[in-house]
Amino acid sequence: MKIAVLPGDGIGVEIVAEAVKVLRALDLKFEMEEALVGGAAYEAHGHPLPESTLKLAKEADAVLFGAVGDWKYDKLERKLRPEQAILGLRKELGLFANFRPAICYEQLTHASSLKPELVAGLDILIIRELTGDIYFGQPRGRREAPDGAFAGQPEAFDTMRYTRPEIERIAHVAFQAARKRNRKVTSVDKANVLETFQFWKDVVTEVHAQYPDVELEHMYVDNAAMQLVRAPKKFDVIVTGNMFGDILSDEAAMLTGSIGMLPSASLNERKQGLYEPSHGSAPDIAGQGVANPLATILSAAMMLRYSLDQEEAARRIEAAVKDVLAQNLRTADIYSEGTTKVGTKEMGDAVVARLKAQG
Ligand code: IPM
Ligand code: MN
Repeated sequence: MKIAVLPGDGIGVEIVAEAVKVLRALDLKFEMEEALVGGAAYEAHGHPLPESTLKLAKEADAVLFGAVGDWKYDKLERKLRPEQAILGLRKELGLFANFRPAICYEQLTHASSLKPELVAGLDILIIRELTGDIYFGQPRGRREAPDGAFAGQPEAFDTMRYTRPEIERIAHVAFQAARKRNRKVTSVDKANVLETFQFWKDVVTEVHAQYPDVELEHMYVDNAAMQLVRAPKKFDVIVTGNMFGDILSDEAAMLTGSIGMLPSASLNERKQGLYEPSHGSAPDIAGQGVANPLATILSAAMMLRYSLDQEEAARRIEAAVKDVLAQNLRTADIYSEGTTKVGTKEMGDAVVARLKAQG
């Protein structure tokens, strides 16, 4: 088993170090190799996703990813920006299925901006299609508007598109995931306005015929955004396109009160995957040793489960994380009165200690 370790920028470096520490404490045999990505790679090699990093990622069974980005790269041309590294990895490895769970941990119920009773016990899974949609659709660019009221004026355009096989495969992923949960899928679209998403709705409905044991509902994205803050526990699995999934997964993450706690997985057809926290590189707190490493540690658990076939080890990590929360250890992002504030390293050490205590 080979893991490519790509810490990236900002707090990525600190939190990935803790996840690596936790993986090492498991006494499993895997090879870990580290490489630069994002702004760090741009500084060293002039490109956010150098050939050597891409090669390592392709050869590995899984990629453990930190975060990329910093305001200081905002002025670079788009293809050199740190974000292009993650988009490039998704595309090059064909990581079309993005799992973003939003789980509200018992001890953190009060960290949510919603009333505790709305989020207590919340456990929803957003499955975001990750390699299509307006993110990658061609053509895109700048030109002179060819028609319309502003013909001749400068304009910019992107293209929203989905092919049938792209929708079919993500729909299968969603229905299969729902079978392991509460057997309900909400497909989020904008079929009332967009042709792409009428097609999406039609294809998801067709695929559903193969899963009569799973309930399917369709919901417009604006309504889904509203329902997520009104009654989030009504959802089980949400499946949607790349852009709607980007937006709704941030919203769902915040319901749990602690984006610092949420892992994510991006898988291809061969179950090769990229695992990263749902949060970003947080340049404002980088290097201070205060970032929450738990999302990355939980991402490592997802990696063990989905790409490395180590369910038992995954559960051990998840149990250890619950234990440290029960011990009232908190990084600044989830701190509340009466708990003990710890830094990034101490949190990682605490998880390792709990793992060892499991015997
Ligand atoms: C995410 C991020 C990325 C996205 C950016 C960094 C390209 O927001 O993983 O959700 O939009 O997909
Ligand atoms: Mn996002």
